[in-house]
Amino acid sequence: MADHPIGIFDSGFGGLTVLREVAALLPQYDYLYLGDNARSPYGTRSFQTVYEYTRECVFKLFDAGCPLVILACNTASAKALRTIQQKDLPKMDSKLRVLGVIRPTAEVIGNYSISGKVGVLGTSGTVISGSYPMEIAKTFPNVEVYQQACPMWVPLIENNEHMGSGADYFVKEYVKQLMDQATGIDTILLGCTHYPLLADKIQQHVPEQVCILSQGEIVADSLKDYLHRHPEMEKTCSKNGTRRFLTTDDTANFDAHASIFFGSDVRSEHCSIPRVS
Ligand code: DGL
Repeated sequence: MADHPIGIFDSGFGGLTVLREVAALLPQYDYLYLGDNARSPYGTRSFQTVYEYTRECVFKLFDAGCPLVILACNTASAKALRTIQQKDLPKMDSKLRVLGVIRPTAEVIGNYSISGKVGVLGTSGTVISGSYPMEIAKTFPNVEVYQQACPMWVPLIENNEHMGSGADYFVKEYVKQLMDQATGIDTILLGCTHYPLLADKIQQHVPEQVCILSQGEIVADSLKDYLHRHPEMEKTCSKNGTRRFLTTDDTANFDAHASIFFGSDVRSEHCSIPRVS
């Protein structure tokens, strides 16, 4: 069978926390991961820049044979997905698809909350886009959404400093800023695929009963459902159980850090991203 892996994209390492859960639930498929480490972080970049970078990486994954690409990055999902779907995909092979991580998360998050008050921690880009409050309101109009941008977290995580005292300070600070916005927040979404690495630290700064949600399992369940509802796509995706990893930056550095996110050893290949005008 020809090689048609499912593409998983992130600005850097964070999407590996999603791939980990997706591959655990759906091990039969081939996966091609692309981390744009050379240009990460995306979280503080403009809409236009995030769109251009994301589009180039999506095209790279299409060129590599992926019929379906998951933007395993909230920032890219918030700032680039809709434009890619509306502007770029109609000009391409009609069978190609790009999906994000915000909608599947927004469609279930209200089920975790009893108080109806949900906190979202994300990059500045995700928070400013307003994507979460907008998408959550479609499924859960009565849920109140409070957001907090955490611009220092991705740099700390990408530099492997997330276990240190610098991380302690910034975790405490941003979590306090979120929890101070309202009493009764009982569910906190880690709305950035890097943040699961900070979940234990975050838990230390909130009451025990607060549910801290990572997206990996949610996205995995949603992909399983998508493939079930789209048998033509399901048939196209190749099933040899392979995992390949591409990075736009140094492979030795990628491999040294990636296992923390992915949970097992990773051997990456370098790739360059052609500019798309
Ligand atoms: N992991 C990405 C996300 O889910 C953001 C990381 C970045 O700032 O590049 O938003």
